[in-house]
Amino acid sequence: MKKQAKRIGLAIIGAGRVGLIRGEIAARYPQVDWIGLAEKNPERAKLVADKVGADFTTSDFRELLKQPEVTAVIVSTDEHLHVDPIMAALERKLPMLIEKPLATDLAESAGVLAAIERAGVDAVVGYTQRFRRRWLVAKEKVRTGALGDVTMVTSRAFMNRLVAIDNYKRTDNPAEISPMVISGTHALDVVMWLMEAKKPVEVYARSVDKALGPQWKGIDGTGYVITFDDGAIYHGVISWALPEVWPGAVYSLEVGAVGTEGVLTIDDTHRDIVLAVNKAQGEGYAPHESRRVDFLTSYPVGDIALGELRGPMREETNSWLTRLSLGLPTQHATAAEGHNRLMLTKAIDLSARLKRPVTLPISADDEKRGR
Ligand SMILES: NC(=O)c1ccc[n+]([C@@H]2O[C@H](COP(=O)([O-])OP(=O)(O)OC[C@H]3O[C@@H](n4cnc5c(N)ncnc54)[C@H](O)[C@@H]3O)[C@@H](O)[C@H]2O)c1
Repeated sequence: MKKQAKRIGLAIIGAGRVGLIRGEIAARYPQVDWIGLAEKNPERAKLVADKVGADFTTSDFRELLKQPEVTAVIVSTDEHLHVDPIMAALERKLPMLIEKPLATDLAESAGVLAAIERAGVDAVVGYTQRFRRRWLVAKEKVRTGALGDVTMVTSRAFMNRLVAIDNYKRTDNPAEISPMVISGTHALDVVMWLMEAKKPVEVYARSVDKALGPQWKGIDGTGYVITFDDGAIYHGVISWALPEVWPGAVYSLEVGAVGTEGVLTIDDTHRDIVLAVNKAQGEGYAPHESRRVDFLTSYPVGDIALGELRGPMREETNSWLTRLSLGLPTQHATAAEGHNRLMLTKAIDLSARLKRPVTLPISADDEKRGR
């Protein structure tokens, strides 16, 4: 079969940490012959434009989306600012890679999903961990029945509080963000991807707020049990309140899946690569200077080595560009899955607030009425 690769003119909306990473990767991709940036912070726009060799730069994403060269869009604005750029890109029916979460408000997320489906646009959501070999192997073993019928799954996500503080600092409405919506969604997506043949029907959760509550009006962590229609259960905990001296820069995860015929455990805590130094090193989120020990590779997007990002976000970005240029299928999360993950994280937070089980799925009205 002869392959005809299509050219890509890429619009990146939001040139922060992720916009820069994806832009640098895209700049090296053979079929990308044009990159445009929309970034509202002018200094940041200039820095990223220089690094990726941008052909067009503006502070206004609508201007960018008017450019005739654009054939695809990355929406990498802050979590609560994805919706307007998505809706604008839909007007031109441009395929999109949207950073997680799809939106931070459940009604907006449902509206965005409906608009994407109406437009028939290929929009995927950045659940980057799906591009790691360990989760792919796990997915394959569950999918091909190695464990028999999976009856119990557990996940434990432990995160340095630097991530939480970074998020709480950037919002004037701390109630809008939570460890589940912002970060727990990655562990949740991995598990729900493994369990995709089953339908979640109920969630029960509790949260604590003693470390991040007083200063940031935030939540430290949440524990939850999701029940599936066949009685299978998924138990998860996330804390993003670990002290700044905790050696994991960002994410430590353990997952166990038990089935009728087998068990699978995945240690993704990054305790296998330990760096101890006399002078604090900046890895991922700048650590407190008292932290001299690092579990390397715990920054989920990957690590810079020999001047380039190595790791899952590179795989994910390249894979998406191949999806666009060659039309090949990929394991990216669909917009429907993105909305489902937001709904589940909101239902978990709702159950924790109400301190009682919540029937799944929930609607935006259920969430508002506190049902
Ligand atoms: N997949 C992953 O592993 C992963 C990792 C980190 C972040 N993320 C997600 O990526 C997204 C971006 O995160 P980040 O860490 O890059 O944040 P960031 O704050 O570094 O970058 C966001 C940028 O968007 C710009 N921006 C906001 N609204 C804009 C608008 N309307 N027009 C133009 N520019 C605008 C901001 O000025 C900022 O520079 C978030 O949704 C986050 O959850 C995903």
